[in-house]
Amino acid sequence: MRIIYLCGSLRKNSYNRKLMETMMSEAPSHWEMAEVELKDIPFYDADIESAGEPEAVKRLKAAIADADGVIMVTPEYNNGMPAILKNAIDWASSPPDSSPLPNKAVALAGASPQGAGTVQAQAQLRQVLGAIQTRTMPGPKILVGQIQNRIADEDRLIKEASTVKRIKAFVGAFDEWVRFFQK
Ligand SMILES: Cc1cc2nc3c(=O)[nH]c(=O)nc-3n(C[C@H](O)[C@H](O)[C@H](O)COP(=O)(O)O)c2cc1C
Repeated sequence: MRIIYLCGSLRKNSYNRKLMETMMSEAPSHWEMAEVELKDIPFYDADIESAGEPEAVKRLKAAIADADGVIMVTPEYNNGMPAILKNAIDWASSPPDSSPLPNKAVALAGASPQGAGTVQAQAQLRQVLGAIQTRTMPGPKILVGQIQNRIADEDRLIKEASTVKRIKAFVGAFDEWVRFFQK
């Protein structure tokens, strides 16, 4: 099963990247996983699109098309999703006739140093994906609040047992979600 990850944070020590890497380490062994980096994707511009899609956009679309499932790990900025992730989704959704996103199994997760753990970013993301008709898993949810208290400074991964347990349940549920649509 091929699962790709999109991370909405570009920074090196991103908490959301730590969450993503923890998910990768807890994923079922039959998952073949890769992150598709978003940093080289320019802002969506229909003129650029009609002149020929940039390589980074082609890579993103091909990776989504090849994947059985997509996990989006998002920070929250000003009660919404980061522009980097919205921009990637906009590119991948266009043109609609050849977009690899409709009917794709998708799951959402996010982490924040604040208490609510990206609840508003994920709600917004879910709304946006609704327009594209992805098959977005309704739950279980991964909203990791106060993540700085759940990771030791030198660690790349989340070690807190209760959070790891939730992450395991999440990847297990997504495994079933993806299989359901493969039938
Ligand atoms: C412009 C900006 C707006 C932010 N707004 C929110 C917010 O609305 N809710 C929230 O939980 N955190 C907010 N934060 C804090 C981020 O959650 C925090 O910077 C987080 O570490 C970003 O994710 P990352 O560690 O994966 O890069 C904001 C940060 C920035 C830079």
